[in-house]
Amino acid sequence: MDAEELAARWRERLESWAIPEEILAAAPVDPWCYPLARFATRTDRALAEPDDGPTMARLAEALPEGGTLLDVGSGPGAASLPLRDRIGHLWAVDSSAEMLEELSARADKLGVPATTVEGRWPDVSGRVPEVDVVVAAHVVYNVPDLVDFLQALDRSARRRVVLELPHRHPMSWMAPLWRHFHGVDRPVRPVAEDCVALAAALGFAVRVEEREAPLERFDSLGELAASACHRICLDPSRSEEVARTALELGMWPLPRDRWVTLWWE
Ligand SMILES: C[S@@+](CC[C@H](N)C(=O)[O-])C[C@H]1O[C@@H](n2cnc3c(N)ncnc32)[C@H](O)[C@@H]1O
Repeated sequence: MDAEELAARWRERLESWAIPEEILAAAPVDPWCYPLARFATRTDRALAEPDDGPTMARLAEALPEGGTLLDVGSGPGAASLPLRDRIGHLWAVDSSAEMLEELSARADKLGVPATTVEGRWPDVSGRVPEVDVVVAAHVVYNVPDLVDFLQALDRSARRRVVLELPHRHPMSWMAPLWRHFHGVDRPVRPVAEDCVALAAALGFAVRVEEREAPLERFDSLGELAASACHRICLDPSRSEEVARTALELGMWPLPRDRWVTLWWE
């Protein structure tokens, strides 16, 4: 299959994740929004407990001392700030101003010179200079136009592009709850291999490593239930019922995700 067909499949498969309109209309909050606190905690953990997994290893080996790093879909900086000792200048792009504020606060505290750019990648790629290394972690399942996204990452990187993504769509773990509460079956694709195939079809010499996620998705059943209420469009008052159901369905403890790192020069 060529890049055009793979790109069309990626887009269609992502579109198949759309939430049925009547369920979305009754949602108490936007089920797709990124919870700031969750990503702030993830960043603080990544800073406190340095991760020697493939993403950090591939970034560190390509980033020269004092080099420039671009983090696309940075959130508060979990995929870039742990490299604080090597970074000469960090460019962080995110469509959320709140996420970028969290990143700036942490970069200031760590003494990492950083410039934030608010907006969607690749729309804002012209506002970022060429850098040594580019990272985009846990973003691509949010990107229907993956070709433009990947090509703009590639154009921005002098040395290497590194992507990290879960093996399956990040909402996949909730499929049994969707079936139970709404009678809706959730899709399976796209998966990480679909992104790898597309990057390869675009001519990038992609290499891939996979591992178990270094973090539990949730620290408690209560946390799982609160997140599930948000994501499957239920009122938070139903979280005890959701927790009970998750236990009955054998969903707790949740198995760890598999995370995939892909990179090319
Ligand atoms: C799941 S979070 C991951 C944050 C961080 N990279 C990490 O690994 O913890 C995804 C982030 O990407 C941002 N985002 C999603 N699509 C984007 C796009 N096309 N351009 C810029 N930011 C994007 C969201 O606002 C969010 O902060």
